[in-house]
Amino acid sequence: MVRLIGIISGKGGVGKTTVAANLAIALKKFGKRVAVVDCNFTTAHLGLYMGMYTYPKTLNSFLRNEASLEDAIYPHPSGINVVPASLQLKDLVDVDTNGLKNAFIQVFCDHDIVLLDSAPGIGKEALISLGACDEILFIANPFIPSVVDVAKYSQLDSLPRVIGIILNRVRNRKYELNIEEVMQFTEFPVIGKIPEDENVLKSINKRELVMISKQNSAASQAIMEIAAKLIGINYKPKRFRMWPFLRS
Ligand SMILES: Nc1ncnc2c1ncn2[C@@H]1O[C@H](COP(=O)(O)OP(=O)(O)O)[C@@H](O)[C@H]1O
Ligand SMILES: [Mg+2]
Repeated sequence: MVRLIGIISGKGGVGKTTVAANLAIALKKFGKRVAVVDCNFTTAHLGLYMGMYTYPKTLNSFLRNEASLEDAIYPHPSGINVVPASLQLKDLVDVDTNGLKNAFIQVFCDHDIVLLDSAPGIGKEALISLGACDEILFIANPFIPSVVDVAKYSQLDSLPRVIGIILNRVRNRKYELNIEEVMQFTEFPVIGKIPEDENVLKSINKRELVMISKQNSAASQAIMEIAAKLIGINYKPKRFRMWPFLRS
């Protein structure tokens, strides 16, 4: 059965869309059938990150009964499928999102994994992806506000299974929270660390995904390692002598 995994964070701007898009490609590289869905309606950036600029039908069209979910699925050259959301705020007014999970299960029955790129926090918009997934991957930066906001999720009445936390933009500085501290704060396991890597920023402005344009970069290798862990296979990442942000 297809795994519906929510990419969730307490704070915005921590790297959810970056991780969702590149993790999807990494999983595809390991032979999985993958889709990634933009459930962040107010800042719907997944299409942009995937290099897609025109998409007549979106997840919003489906939620407003103006299109089938199949109509909003776009094949990406990498071989994954993408469901973008609309950038129009008004599109979310009065929509019923209760049937979303069943719709995903049906439409993606021939997929292995669907990643849901969520809105941050625990507001109405974030609850859409929480209600539509079976498993959660939290994304956080190694700083107290980001991690404390993840800890708040354990107060929710019903929480899908938490796979763990991915720490993103890690510089391995003394002032950053380490894995043990993050686990203490949140009581969730840290399942991976992605370094701060300027290749991520460079690729965005070149309208590329780092996992495609710079497969051997530190960030890509860390994401490959996380993808392997998610599907229970062994992967030996290529190691770097220096952290990428220290290189000129
Ligand atoms: N590992 C990383 N190294 C460097 N920059 C990163 C990394 N991960 C994300 N970023 C940058 O951080 C910013 C926010 O990332 P984004 O994925 O849009 O966050 P979110 O979806 O959580 O709002 C973007 O400019 C992105 O390029
Ligand atoms: Mg985002």
